[in-house]
Amino acid sequence: MKKFARIIGTGSYLPPKIITNEDLEKTLDTSKEWIVTRTGIEKRHIVENQSNCELATIASQNALKAANISPKELDLIIFATTTPDKIFPATATVLQKALGASCPAFDLQAVCAGFIFALTTAEKYIKTNSANKVLVVGSETLSRIVDWTDRSTAILFGDGAGAVVLSSDLNAGILNTKLLSDGNYLPSLQVNNNYINQHGFIQMSGNEVFKAAIKHLSILALETIKENNITVDEIDYMIPHQANVRIITAIAQRINIPMDKVIVTLKDQGNTSAASIPLAIDKAVRDKRIKKNNILLLIGIGAGFSWGSVLLRF
Ligand SMILES: CC(C)(COP(=O)(O)OP(=O)(O)OC[C@H]1O[C@@H](n2cnc3c(N)ncnc32)[C@H](O)[C@@H]1OP(=O)(O)O)[C@@H](O)C(=O)NCCC(=O)NCCS
Repeated sequence: MKKFARIIGTGSYLPPKIITNEDLEKTLDTSKEWIVTRTGIEKRHIVENQSNCELATIASQNALKAANISPKELDLIIFATTTPDKIFPATATVLQKALGASCPAFDLQAVCAGFIFALTTAEKYIKTNSANKVLVVGSETLSRIVDWTDRSTAILFGDGAGAVVLSSDLNAGILNTKLLSDGNYLPSLQVNNNYINQHGFIQMSGNEVFKAAIKHLSILALETIKENNITVDEIDYMIPHQANVRIITAIAQRINIPMDKVIVTLKDQGNTSAASIPLAIDKAVRDKRIKKNNILLLIGIGAGFSWGSVLLRF
């Protein structure tokens, strides 16, 4: 019998400290108008003393509560992050202990596409009967790898965590997944560290990333729609990775989906990398836009480049 992986609970958490565009004007050669016009971002949340795992723990507890299951019922934890608290152990195992879970737990690194890659991996575990309940987390403390003197990157990023609980379901859930990677893009977006200089910062050719993101995500979204024999009208919400509102509107135009069917959180959160999609899902679930049985199209792209889509019935 066909088995689906279905989202049964969502949760998120943003650290309390907020940095506004006005704050950035004081330290960088920029203006609040430039930032909001070019990116759609007005503010972002930034950690002070909290670790990435602490953000992930609160988001996960919220997701488990919404799913109405206990941590002991989890069969697997997948933690998508680019900013693990340590090189080892995996932040996922620290999260496992913090939650009081006892299942296997691992980190997954696909930068801003991390949540899409993690959700896809979790779905395969459920579909092959290797797990019944899986916690998928996207959580980041990107503020720790941002060069706060570089106006071309410091304006973009924020910290936060989002989580979903997946459960096997005989009726509906994740309908299709697609993952892609192309390592030729390494120079366009990377952290300039190595094992000698451990603490690096984000380096980015913004305009190259901008154009590639629109191109690859539009093509991928159109292919996903076509291969699944659905029309754009059947999609209730598209939830893209939140990098730049101009990237999101350009993709929406190309696939012909109205913006009121696109979940956008950039204004208040900036780009939270692997956390941005689960944060957006949780926001739209809690404000009751996303409802049970809605068809959702998730799309994300990040450094590597790696990109992917997940089509699901909520
Ligand atoms: C970074 C980004 C906002 C820049 O916007 P853009 O329209 O592409 O702007 P450009 O990079 O072409 O720069 C235009 C000018 O603005 C300047 N500029 C860059 N950042 C600025 C800032 N914060 N304030 C004011 N001016 C700025 C540039 O120096 C450049 O000046 P010049 O014309 O004198 O050389 C945009 O490219 C972007 O969002 N890219 C994608 C980033 C991303 O999503 N990364 C993560 C992927 S997961």
